[in-house]
Amino acid sequence: MARCFVTRQLPGGALDRLASEHELDLWPDSCPPGREQLVAHASAAHGLLSQLTERVDGDLLDRCPSLVAVANYAVGYDNIDLDAATERGVAVGNTPDVLTDATADLAWALLLSAARRLPEGERAMRSGGWSWEPDFLLGVELRGATLGVVGMGRIGRAVARRAQGFEMEVIHAGRADGLPLEELLERSDFVSLHAPLTPSTRGLIGETELRRMKPSAILVNTARGPLVDTDALVIGLTQGWIAGAGLDVTDPEPLPPDHPLLACPGLAIAPHIGSATHSAREAMAKLAVDNLLAALRGERMPHCVNPEVYERGAIRPAP
Ligand code: DGY
Repeated sequence: MARCFVTRQLPGGALDRLASEHELDLWPDSCPPGREQLVAHASAAHGLLSQLTERVDGDLLDRCPSLVAVANYAVGYDNIDLDAATERGVAVGNTPDVLTDATADLAWALLLSAARRLPEGERAMRSGGWSWEPDFLLGVELRGATLGVVGMGRIGRAVARRAQGFEMEVIHAGRADGLPLEELLERSDFVSLHAPLTPSTRGLIGETELRRMKPSAILVNTARGPLVDTDALVIGLTQGWIAGAGLDVTDPEPLPPDHPLLACPGLAIAPHIGSATHSAREAMAKLAVDNLLAALRGERMPHCVNPEVYERGAIRPAP
């Protein structure tokens, strides 16, 4: 029997399955463990079921020599230093596919919300004093507009598929194919970001890129906050370089309630809930537990993001 540190309670029954085979150390709070608490618990564990709020780096792995596997409860794994894990023989898993539709749906919810100015409408309803007027809260239509998808991976493709129902033209930019980003930004009425956060995508959308977009355009980000330079976005929205933004992710995250971004015009914003449906989150829990159970049996994780760890034959031995 191995010991697993799980940094948050998860929806559904997947953790029961883990607990039936291994000793479970479950972090009891809804807030993430602090760094030292994370190290203290993980250093006594063979398996770590982490969230995107936990930084798993070489320092942590050195201080947790019995750890053989990290199962991240997310498709993104920018919170994990993958090279450091591979060098130390630690397998890392993620939860792909099961959250694709939920995240694509939320990208559309934010796109539509910004296009039709729903946050302003809701504020007007709640504060009262509005009346129907021919030019009250005019927004933009989707039919015939151009959607630019940056990153045609699983979620980018799901977002693009949904655009057919709105009779939009879809263009895309990506690492391997598609248009140059500059051209996509110039041509798009809506730009939706679906790139992973890496050193080369950090700050992908800054002042130059925002100024390149149409003044009527709307930027949607359901990927990772640091893809966008927040300071530039605040100025861009305030000065009208672009018309709006639909954001599920921000930098920093969480955003302090007095952050200037929240006062920007044209903003529709959500607290990183792209994958937050009952079915997606339960399926993510199942995949994360599958990853951990396989690794603790000494088998290959079904969704391993550093498979070279097996090929190099240097994997830390399962307990
Ligand atoms: C992910 O999976 O990467 C999301 O950001 C959280 O579900």
